Amino acid sequence: MAKSIRVGLVGVGNNASAMVQGVHFYSKDEARLSLVNQHHGILFPRLCGYDIGDISFSCAFDVDDRKIGLDLGEAIWSPPNNYPRVVTEEIKTKAQVMAAPVLDGVPEFLTEAISISSHSQVPDDAVDDALARCTEQIRSTGTTVLVNFLPSGSDLATSFFARAAALAGSAYINCTPTPAVHSPEIHALFAECRVPLLGDDLESHFGSSLLHRTLLQALEQRGLEITHSHQINMGGNTDFKNLTHRGNHKKRSKMAALGFVAQSDRVNILPSGGFVPGLEDRKVAYILIEGLGWLGSHVTIDLKLQVQDSSNAAGVVVDLVRIAQAGVDRGIAGNLAMPYYFKRPLSAKPNTADALQAVREFDQAMRGQ
Ligand SMILES: NC(=O)c1ccc[n+]([C@@H]2O[C@H](COP(=O)([O-])OP(=O)(O)OC[C@H]3O[C@@H](n4cnc5c(N)ncnc54)[C@H](O)[C@@H]3O)[C@@H](O)[C@H]2O)c1
Repeated sequence: MAKSIRVGLVGVGNNASAMVQGVHFYSKDEARLSLVNQHHGILFPRLCGYDIGDISFSCAFDVDDRKIGLDLGEAIWSPPNNYPRVVTEEIKTKAQVMAAPVLDGVPEFLTEAISISSHSQVPDDAVDDALARCTEQIRSTGTTVLVNFLPSGSDLATSFFARAAALAGSAYINCTPTPAVHSPEIHALFAECRVPLLGDDLESHFGSSLLHRTLLQALEQRGLEITHSHQINMGGNTDFKNLTHRGNHKKRSKMAALGFVAQSDRVNILPSGGFVPGLEDRKVAYILIEGLGWLGSHVTIDLKLQVQDSSNAAGVVVDLVRIAQAGVDRGIAGNLAMPYYFKRPLSAKPNTADALQAVREFDQAMRGQ
């Protein structure tokens, strides 16, 4: 078993900020460590033999000239990031943010938010050179787990970094709705390179997909008929700005997250019902469920959920990097199925209790060896 987990981040946006601050916060002193043991937003204080303090950051990639060249612990404060500053002290990770090729990461409508570095404007005929460079940066920094935090809809960039990770011998966690586990080519490459691949699209720690699925299942399990349901999400971070234009993959994975209860003609989801800058990194979801019970009597659930969007990602990724590292330690090749943590795993989404049981069994198996 490795002594520490060397994590690389692709995309130093709000999710990266929540992750870097959280790992620093929970790792640094005894008082904070005790919060871990009180389950202060943490599902597994110890997972697959690893603590949160075993996580370190080894490399990071971005395209924004306000982030490139900075230590990751400093770059997370750069605009347009708007996740709150929870850790007030300086964070030094020793991982410097490196320039990545922009590919399809920043469409025209995001250029007012993201300032693309000239180092990231790579012509088509230089992409292979960029791939060799990024692969070498992942390898030479000893990165064992690469986390994809790219904007939704960055299909070329997601595939680019999947290839770089596989060729460098690093696990890859695809937090985005772009298919990676669902791409036969990417899947085959990870099997061939004998490293784990995890995805696709994070299911937030406590978010609208989990809540919506749980409530729909409750109606179904009580024999009620679901006649109509919708889920509308709003937020004020760059991801929401992006989703107002590039929500297709997200809509598909959010429908998949509802599992067997999703009756597509009766359930509708708007991944981004609007970009509301004043919400910053908070997300608001409105969920309506209408059903029929005994003698056609009406049941209505009409609720609003408000969460810190990027905390919701970090609380899940902190488990996934430990699971991925266990996969690297044991030489697991190809898809490392962890449906509990993803909206669109390779197989159909199981119910939450069964998916959690699978995590516990994996944890026990990894600790038992
Ligand atoms: N709760 C959640 O926040 C949650 C849940 C599920 C999935 N996700 C997914 O996680 C991803 C990251 O979310 P976020 O809020 O951190 O996004 P973000 O927009 O804040 O950050 C994305 C970062 O990627 C950078 N980038 C753009 N193109 C790049 C390229 N080619 N190479 C390297 N970097 C590039 C941007 O400059 C930016 O810093 C999104 O795809 C989102 O859908 C988030």
